Amino acid sequence: MASNPTLSSATSQHSSRTATASSTGPPTSSSPDHRMGFLIPMMRTGIVTANPADVEHILRANYPKGEHAISMLRDFLGDGLFNSDGKQWLWQRKNASLEFTKRSLRKFFVDVVQAEVAGRLLPLLRRNASTAGDGGGVLDLQDVLERFAFDTICMVAFGHDPSCLTDGGVVAEARSDFMHKFGEAQDLIVGRFLEPIEVSWKIKKWLNVGTERRLKKAIADVHAFDMGIVRARRSQSASSLDDSRDDVLSRFVASDEHSDEVLRDIVLSFLIAGRETTSSALTWFFWLVSSRPGVVSRIADEVRAVRESTGTNAGEPFGLDAIRDMHYLHAALTESMRLYPPVPIDSQSCAADDTLPGGTHVGAGWQVTYSAYAMGRLEAIWGEDCAEYRPERWLGDDGAFRPDSPFRYTVFHAGPRMCLGKEMAYVQMKSIVASVLEEFVVDVDKDVAGGGVPEHVLSVTLRMKGGLPVQVRRKDGAAAK
Ligand code: HEM
Repeated sequence: MASNPTLSSATSQHSSRTATASSTGPPTSSSPDHRMGFLIPMMRTGIVTANPADVEHILRANYPKGEHAISMLRDFLGDGLFNSDGKQWLWQRKNASLEFTKRSLRKFFVDVVQAEVAGRLLPLLRRNASTAGDGGGVLDLQDVLERFAFDTICMVAFGHDPSCLTDGGVVAEARSDFMHKFGEAQDLIVGRFLEPIEVSWKIKKWLNVGTERRLKKAIADVHAFDMGIVRARRSQSASSLDDSRDDVLSRFVASDEHSDEVLRDIVLSFLIAGRETTSSALTWFFWLVSSRPGVVSRIADEVRAVRESTGTNAGEPFGLDAIRDMHYLHAALTESMRLYPPVPIDSQSCAADDTLPGGTHVGAGWQVTYSAYAMGRLEAIWGEDCAEYRPERWLGDDGAFRPDSPFRYTVFHAGPRMCLGKEMAYVQMKSIVASVLEEFVVDVDKDVAGGGVPEHVLSVTLRMKGGLPVQVRRKDGAAAK
């Protein structure tokens, strides 16, 4: 998701705004309406809000991403789902939504995730646990989770397995070239939004120097790779009429309505969406629960109970129903993302002069940014204990998960452009946590952030600066594998 256009622009404006507005304090917790405006010479005028009524207004009305943000990402993402508005967006959204509701795509996703857990993640952790104490054993869990997410989203988006996480060898040696190039292109294009003067990246692009030169090369490499797969899939489906493949690309190829470039852009949008979001969520989750043994043991109890009710044994894959039955784990992840949302800010553009519910004027062309990070920490929304990590706030008296309004809990966006992969994301995250905590104890390196809160990387997803070093130990009694 890291190159999401609206998010990227939000990042840049957020950073520049914070600098200018520091004298007026934080935008949300100390302003009564949880909203502030900013007018910076040479920059676009905008509003940052954490007010649920504002968020509902802009997202229900489907404020567009806007040509400004879209044009900055077009070199990389073309007109894919993530980087389009209006009709371009609508037809892709309709088709993708249809596919996402199909049982076959969900089953495919569950199978891909379970295979990655059983065939790569758990063997890697087992090997790592066995070397702990021999001077080895420290793993960057964020890196492992990012590799996991990239493998699975590539499989789902275009049926390609980049094998970023292998079941053997040192993790760093397994870095796939495609993942590396993709990350480079994404980071460099996000860098455009961070330039203090907007015109500077355009000049560099025109002169073909510096970061723009590297970006051009990285984009060319990613596009060539992606295009190779698109073309191969098209000729495969034409020759063998193979409709047995379940990935998103095959589904779009089957309709035979789109050019290779359009298909390439669709695939890229999915890679962006799934690349760093679940890994960010899980990195913060594992860090949070590492100092909360009570939460870890409740999750382990729930997993044990689900094993009993489904008649499966530890180490076996969880079926979709078993995953859905894990309500406490669902709540624990939801609560973790409330405090550490993978997409911390998101920005839209105002198409025509408008008025927010409280009466604030918004001019045409202004950026309106909402901060999921600020909203997740507001007493006005979550009550006095808003700063506490408390999964129970998401559970009803019967122990079942109780969702909140997406306009208050904006982690997955809301309205017509709400995240399409939310359910899949939970399936992936729950499968990983349940499988890992069933077999291992995860100890976060005591020196991480000197015992304080780790720093974030300034990016569109909430990545942890320096990664998350952990050591894993097999639990007493975990079956030898
Ligand atoms: C914890 C994990 C995830 C979080 C927090 C998350 C969050 C979000 C957010 C905030 C947006 C709105 C972005 C914008 O338009 O500005 C979004 C859109 C989207 N997400 Fe996710 N996402 C997650 C995982 C996934 C996964 C795994 C997939 C794919 C399988 C996915 C697919 C999409 C798609 C396709 C959109 C674009 C929807 C549209 O523009 O109509 N997401 N997501």
